[in-house]
Amino acid sequence: MPLFDRMAVIGLGLIGGSLARAARESGLVGQVLAADRSEDELARGTELGVIDGYGPIEEVVSGADLVVVAVPVRATHEVLEQIRPFLAPGVVLTDVGSTKGSFVAALHEVLGGWSPRVIPGHPIAGSEKNGVSAARADLFADHKVILTPPEDVDADALARLTSLWQGCGATVLTMSVARHDEVLAATSHLPHLIAFSLVDTLAGEDQNMEIFRYAAGGFRDFTRIAASDPVMWHDIFLSNREAVLRVIDHFNDDLAQLRDAIDTQDGDSLLRVFSRARAARNHFSKMLSGQAYVTDMSQKPVRFRLQPGGSVTGDIRVPGDKSISHRSIMLGALADGITEVEGFLEGEDSLATLQAFRDMGVTIEGPENGHVRIHGVGMTGLQAPRGPLYLGNSGTAMRLFTGLLAAQPFDSELTGDASLSRRPMGRVADPLRAMGAVIDTGEGGTPPLRIRGGQKLSGIHYDMPVASAQVKSCLLLAGLYADGMTSVHEPAPTRDHTERMLEGFGYHVHRNAATASVNGGGRLTAGAIDVPADISSAAFFLVAASIAEGSDLTLRHVGMNPTRTGVINILKLMGADIEVSSQREIGGEPVADLRVRSAPLRGIDIPEDQVPLAIDEFPVLFVAATCAEGRTVLHGAEELRVKESDRIQVMADGLRAVGVETTVTPDGIVIDGGQTIGGGVVDSHGDHRIAMAFAVASLRATGEIQVNDCANVATSFPGFVELARQTGIRIDAQEEQ
Ligand code: S3P
Repeated sequence: MPLFDRMAVIGLGLIGGSLARAARESGLVGQVLAADRSEDELARGTELGVIDGYGPIEEVVSGADLVVVAVPVRATHEVLEQIRPFLAPGVVLTDVGSTKGSFVAALHEVLGGWSPRVIPGHPIAGSEKNGVSAARADLFADHKVILTPPEDVDADALARLTSLWQGCGATVLTMSVARHDEVLAATSHLPHLIAFSLVDTLAGEDQNMEIFRYAAGGFRDFTRIAASDPVMWHDIFLSNREAVLRVIDHFNDDLAQLRDAIDTQDGDSLLRVFSRARAARNHFSKMLSGQAYVTDMSQKPVRFRLQPGGSVTGDIRVPGDKSISHRSIMLGALADGITEVEGFLEGEDSLATLQAFRDMGVTIEGPENGHVRIHGVGMTGLQAPRGPLYLGNSGTAMRLFTGLLAAQPFDSELTGDASLSRRPMGRVADPLRAMGAVIDTGEGGTPPLRIRGGQKLSGIHYDMPVASAQVKSCLLLAGLYADGMTSVHEPAPTRDHTERMLEGFGYHVHRNAATASVNGGGRLTAGAIDVPADISSAAFFLVAASIAEGSDLTLRHVGMNPTRTGVINILKLMGADIEVSSQREIGGEPVADLRVRSAPLRGIDIPEDQVPLAIDEFPVLFVAATCAEGRTVLHGAEELRVKESDRIQVMADGLRAVGVETTVTPDGIVIDGGQTIGGGVVDSHGDHRIAMAFAVASLRATGEIQVNDCANVATSFPGFVELARQTGIRIDAQEEQ
């Protein structure tokens, strides 16, 4: 069944022609007809098999259920006037222009408004060649297409248009019109302007021939885009005037500052800007590279340099909860309807989950300032991904996905980075196999995981040998698809975000003491999710303010789910001064504001029942123990050895590197407080929480601490360095050479 019976392409140039060709060849469109001012182009297009035929604009448009306006931006208004009387009821209308505000303005002028089936689009693809003869079916393969749907978009129209572009090999992103125009002004329009201007400036210099003759590779690379079509760019700048002016002004200011820095020989400023830019570029290419979420192997590791001392003050909100962010995307994708998420963590782990669902055909708008809009596909609406799903550093994503994918009709493969590839997956694969799943793991039960689709799952009762929220959540997700009841018993309470969110989506979870159960075969109903600030990220600041004399810090909107508050309980037992206020419940999760002031800490025997409730916070709690008076003893925490790193050993090694001796036990550690933290070089082993824990330790150090391999801080806490610096931690991030 084609997605559209007849597509009308108005304007048969490179882009219109390539879309026509790709749509025809993929069989996603019944028939493709075109209209264009140039009879020659139309005849050539038919001859080359780009289109099925052509005709006068009114005929081409009137029988079409998809109309694509593919004319230069300046001609949009006129074309809309021409096609207006002939648009069939129910037609989906889109365009391919480089600016979206101008298209929407033309809609208002000509059609008197913007209706739900009009979805502006912008394929980010092109070629040096123009015209229909240059049209290629693979022009959009592995490129991005941005759709800017109206608020009240018709979900069916959006889904079909998205599928059409995906069928052409593109990755579809959605964003608002204003956001599109701003993003493009910064990432495409400004660079073109600078390239045109630079070549023009140099061409006007006396020595122009010499300059061009000796032009180095950098000049050639940088100015390649100055060979683009001047008429098109003239149109783009005039139609995206405001957004472009804003970004030009911003750029001018920054350029003036660099000029001053050179003038005054301020090398520090130059280095700061250049290294920040280089880190940002690596970060962006990692986040945005290609189709799937893939790590950019060229990305250099990051090192933290921490000057000793300081105190922390201020009023901050740390990023959104990682566990809840993952689950919001998962349940939102499987729900019926649109789920709006606020406060989403834009960290690499939760973005990996988001990308994996995009790879399975789910339309997800954003994230934009923590806002994500998920167009749920229902329990059975996921599509087979085209390749392995790459989940980066995220154990949560991999374990939860395994449960979900074991129940899908298609095969899938899950991969991750070096750290994730060492982590145990037998803990989810084994019980899932008992439910009927077919899963292959790598050696010793580690990733990659190959999951065979099309299996019938049956509910089981599972007694978890370890207290793991990931295993529990994995089985509950599989249980949504299984015959009968799936129930999971936990040996100690673990985070219950999955259970709470399932209830929030209208799926009943039966909870009886330590057992959670679901009956398979139900449905999820989309809703709104407000993600609280992550208590695991707040933990670094709770310890920082406790140990650094003179500190007084407020943390806002922190998630206070009782299955997560172990860190507060433990710190309070150690004598920390943490004031909890404005306790409230938002979207089924308790939140509060926390005020922390420095206080003398004392060593304690950490109660074992607190261990699962503070499982991610131990690296920084070890720092607190080091600064406490007396001995702290931890037992029952062997799980720490299979986190992103072996957190007991790696912390002990790191503490030793800064002059602190500890005693490691198989399931914990003994730390005698009151030892001096010196300077030294710490290896975080790519573990985000180890890196951040030592950033906190610097507050009480007597010398500079360097922490290596810190790039993964972006998995859970984007913006950590800036926020830490803002509160008073003397931190700098640099690329390791
Ligand atoms: C998580 C559960 C915990 C925790 C992890 C997040 C979750 O792992 O360490 O960071 O979101 O379910 P385990 O289930 O392995 O204890």
